[in-house]
Formats: sequence, structure tokens, C-alpha cells
Amino acid sequence: MSRILIIGSEGQLGSELSSFFSKIMDPSNIFLSDIKDESSSILTYNKLDALSYNELKTFVKSYRISHIYHLAAILSAKGETNPMKTWNLNMNSLLNVLELGKNKLIDKIFWPSSISVFGINSEKVNTRQNSVKDPTTVYGISKLAGERWCEYYNMVYNVDVRSVRFPGIISSNTLPGGGTTDYAVEIFHSFIKNEDFKCFLSENTMLPMIYIDDAIESIWKLMNSDKQNLTIKSSYNISAFSISPKIIFDELKKINSDFKIIYSPDKRQSIADSWPDTVEDSQARKDWNWKEKFSLKQTIKEMLRKLN
Ligand SMILES: NC(=O)c1ccc[n+]([C@@H]2O[C@H](COP(=O)([O-])OP(=O)(O)OC[C@H]3O[C@@H](n4cnc5c(N)ncnc54)[C@H](O)[C@@H]3O)[C@@H](O)[C@H]2O)c1
Repeated sequence: MSRILIIGSEGQLGSELSSFFSKIMDPSNIFLSDIKDESSSILTYNKLDALSYNELKTFVKSYRISHIYHLAAILSAKGETNPMKTWNLNMNSLLNVLELGKNKLIDKIFWPSSISVFGINSEKVNTRQNSVKDPTTVYGISKLAGERWCEYYNMVYNVDVRSVRFPGIISSNTLPGGGTTDYAVEIFHSFIKNEDFKCFLSENTMLPMIYIDDAIESIWKLMNSDKQNLTIKSSYNISAFSISPKIIFDELKKINSDFKIIYSPDKRQSIADSWPDTVEDSQARKDWNWKEKFSLKQTIKEMLRKLN
């Protein structure tokens, strides 16, 4: 029986992952942690600083944690406002968790990387697993270094750490935490409030996205795959669908013809321009049967159902 700890449980992904686990596991085996004082969940919550190895070690030993889902990070756009803080959190919290694995205090780790590892010299369309990686943000640099550390701990210390490069995640539980794909969540909130939507990216900016249920499914599938089938020890490309603000707006306008969008690109435009339009993910499909279920149309349907 696994006993899991989610670090960064109060964020966009963590809040949905904990709710998923609570439906399929005995809640007494699920532990949530974040730097925030309180949790929005009824599951067992402890305020823990992922930057403190000793705090993590004491907790993991006391509660006999076997699996860690390490989600604490500062995301791409927010990261640019304080590069050193972003590097410190994103890098040192991961190293703390990897050290717990190396010291045999936990059995398995999930840590998400991101499409931000790619840069302007990676191919834009069908970006390959092993394409050039020259990230332009501190977030992307920290994710790329994190991937290298994951592979290192896998190969040198036999730490079972698994990872995917998430595209932008579209979900309804919380507002997103400062990424470059946040517009694809915020547009739904404006839509249901009957407000005009001010979009921080230009209308034809293509980016890969994934609906939250598919993001969670990918974590679940990867974590439950046979280790010997996993040929990639750093992080797997995965993809679901790619959209631009115009594509999503046109779909929403079909539902409410009064809906309006104002394009007002800001600093996030150059980050988006450095990322892939679409990602090639055949290795994930081959190694652990990755397959998305949600198209853009299904994502819109689910988002509107949940937010209403
Ligand atoms: N959301 C996306 O679209 C997306 C895309 C690609 C990758 N990811 C990755 O998924 C993970 C989760 O992303 P998210 O969108 O949920 O982020 P988020 O910003 O919504 O949540 C991150 C959480 O980490 C917590 N945190 C910050 N500092 C901490 C510390 N010192 N100790 C413990 N907790 C701390 C924050 O309080 C927050 O609740 C991140 O690693 C992110 O890079 C997310």
C-alpha cells in the first residue's frame, strides 16, 4: 500500500491531483503539503517548506511516505520577476526530494517538467523528444537542469523518478499560478462572467495544451508503468492538442455571440514565441501507452460544465 505526499498541493495541479487520489485511495494514505498556512482540501495537510531537507525528511519518516509528487515551483511568467528565487525553489526543492530517494526514504517520485525546456532553435512543429533545448526563461532553465538531475539520480543512484513535460494545463479548480499558458484558463472565467476578455498573447500564438483529467491520467499511467519499459530517464514529451487564442475564442463565440476578446500582448508573448506550437510524443505512447482523451471541444464542454 503506497502512502503519498503531494508537495505544492494547493496549486493548480496539486489541488486536482489530491482530489483525484481521494477518489481512488484510502484518504488516510494521502498527505498534502505546501508553503501556504491552510489547505482548501479536507485531506491531511501540513505546512512544509520544500526547501528544507530536514523538514521533508522528518515528515517522510514519521508518516512512512512511499511516493512523492513534487509539484512546488515558480512558473514561467512569474519566474521572470525574480529569477534567483525561481532558480532556488525549482532546483533545490527538487534536489531535496531526489536526495530522499537516494537515501532510500521514499520509493518513487513524480516531478513535472514542461515544454519550457525548448527554445527558439527547437523545431516549432512536432518538436521532438531530443530536439535542441535552449530555454530563454529561468523557469525553462530550471526545468531543463531538473530533467538532467532526474536522469542522473535515475542512472547513478537508481532513484525511481518519473517525469513528463507538461504543455499548458487547462483546469477549473483554481486559477493558474503565473504561467504563459494561463490565458487558456482565464478566458473561461471571463466567458462565464459575461465579461470581455483581455488576452495577453496575440491571436495566432499556437501553444500545446492539455485538459486536467488527461494531465492526471498521464501521471497515473506513468507512475504505474513497469520501470523496465521506461526508456526515458529524464522527462517524456506528451501532447494532447494545440490552440491559439483565436481558436479557443472562436469556439466560445459559437456558444455566446456577444463574447468579445481584446488582444493586448505583454512580456509573456516572447516566452510563448520561444515555445513549440506542437509536440511529438511517440515515445510516451510507445513506452507507457500515453493517449489523450480530451480534444479542445471536449475540454470546453467540461470547463463550462464545471465553472457553471
Ligand atoms: N500549470 C501548468 O500549466 C503547468 C505546465 C507545465 C508544468 N507544470 C508544472 O507542474 C507543477 C505544478 O504547477 P501548478 O500549475 O500547480 O503551479 P502553482 O503555482 O499553481 O502551484 C505551485 C504550488 O507550490 C507551492 N509552493 C511554493 N513554494 C513552496 C515551498 N517552498 N514549499 C512548498 N510548496 C511551495 C505554492 O504555494 C503553490 O501552491 C510545477 O512544477 C509546474 O512547473 C505546470
